[in-house]
Amino acid sequence: MTATDAPGSSERTGGSALVPAVTTRPPAPDAGARASPGSNLLDALSIRDVRGYAVLDAAFGPGPQLVWGPNAAGKTNLLEAIVLLAWGHSHRTSTDAELVRWGADLGRVEGTAGRETIEVALLRPGAPAVAGAARKRIRVNGVPRRAPALLGLVRTVVFAPEEVLLVVGSPSLRRTALDRLAAQRSTVYARELATYARALQQRNSLLRAIREEQASRDQLRVWDTPLLESGAALLEERFRLLDDVRGPLARAHAEIAPDEAGAGQLTVRYQTNAPPLPGEPPGAAFARRLSETADKEIWNGATLVGPHRDDLVFELGGRDLAGFASRGQQRTAILAFKLAELDLLTDHDGRPPLLLLDDVFSELDPERRAHLVRRIAELPQAFVTTTTLDDLDPALRAVATTWRVEPAEDGARLVGPRSPAERGR
Ligand SMILES: Nc1ncnc2c1ncn2[C@@H]1O[C@H](COP(=O)(O)OP(=O)(O)OP(=O)(O)O)[C@@H](O)[C@H]1O
Ligand SMILES: [Mg+2]
Repeated sequence: MTATDAPGSSERTGGSALVPAVTTRPPAPDAGARASPGSNLLDALSIRDVRGYAVLDAAFGPGPQLVWGPNAAGKTNLLEAIVLLAWGHSHRTSTDAELVRWGADLGRVEGTAGRETIEVALLRPGAPAVAGAARKRIRVNGVPRRAPALLGLVRTVVFAPEEVLLVVGSPSLRRTALDRLAAQRSTVYARELATYARALQQRNSLLRAIREEQASRDQLRVWDTPLLESGAALLEERFRLLDDVRGPLARAHAEIAPDEAGAGQLTVRYQTNAPPLPGEPPGAAFARRLSETADKEIWNGATLVGPHRDDLVFELGGRDLAGFASRGQQRTAILAFKLAELDLLTDHDGRPPLLLLDDVFSELDPERRAHLVRRIAELPQAFVTTTTLDDLDPALRAVATTWRVEPAEDGARLVGPRSPAERGR
């Protein structure tokens, strides 16, 4: 079953893996720009055995795509498949194997964005047919690539329900938000992040071995070097990013909450566990703190300082929002951060990113919703999920292409598209 040959649709596309772009919308005035590499526009998507989808083939036009359906139908799963193409991993789990459809050995997502065809295939660990094979395979235009190489192709901002805790939840939520944004601005950052994670894991194993007297303390130097080098690169880029985010964040906040912004500016501050001394570069401060804490680290069997333990603090008028913000103020801060992400990625190369909004409208008051709708309308493409279309702003529904996700025993179905013109008939 494909999206375009699903019941209720007039278009049939046959059994090809990727359907040609079929859209009921007229071409956008800037349609020529879509042919450029990394267009941030998803023209087509194919899914085989990922989450609840057995088979899905869909072609998308530009503009807002509304994806609606009942709870547990597969709306978030659809966005997750898109995120997999954009980032090489899911936005809601770090365990790739969870994405493979239950009972299947191989899950595969393929998408076209401008001239690029991106494919991510995931193998279920331990599947007999694939023993010994790599668990994840990424290809761009048929050429095997590593995940960081994907990051500039479809720059994507995701706003998902998990992020309602961004301001007050655990530091890892904020670090992840920062890392995702930084990695999409710089593939070097994405590579350094992977190097850092590997060095950290090895160093932690070694610390435990030293504690158990199965390794000597001298061996730490082997992992200190890559940890410090990649850590310094991460810190530098994080500071740069936070410098760059200051203006867009304050502007977005002033737009969506002018009264609140009048009383105090919204900022994000980097909170490091290796604060530099006056004139000391952040990387040098990290090295100094790492040697100062070595004894404690061996005792704990874990690396206690470094970018993996740092945090971001959202502040309003210089006060830590986590300490006093109402739910409304938290949501405003998070929405402002998301809008700042859109601006930063647009500034990066002049191309607005793809926006994926997972059922977040219900979290916002009418004024903030209206603002978000205006921003969506300015973007080349956005995917917006909801359980009920009635919840969505009529202005958005009027210009959007609508898709329905239907649960079914043989796999979820994406039914559509219905263009605004069709709905009017
Ligand atoms: N690996 C998997 N294999 C098969 N089905 C899966 C797998 N992972 C999740 N699912 C199915 O996907 C369903 C959830 O889909 P999803 O999260 O996309 O729902 P949703 O439409 O976003 O719902 P909601 O409106 O509640 O957010 C689960 O009920 C589960 O049955
Ligand atoms: Mg969902």
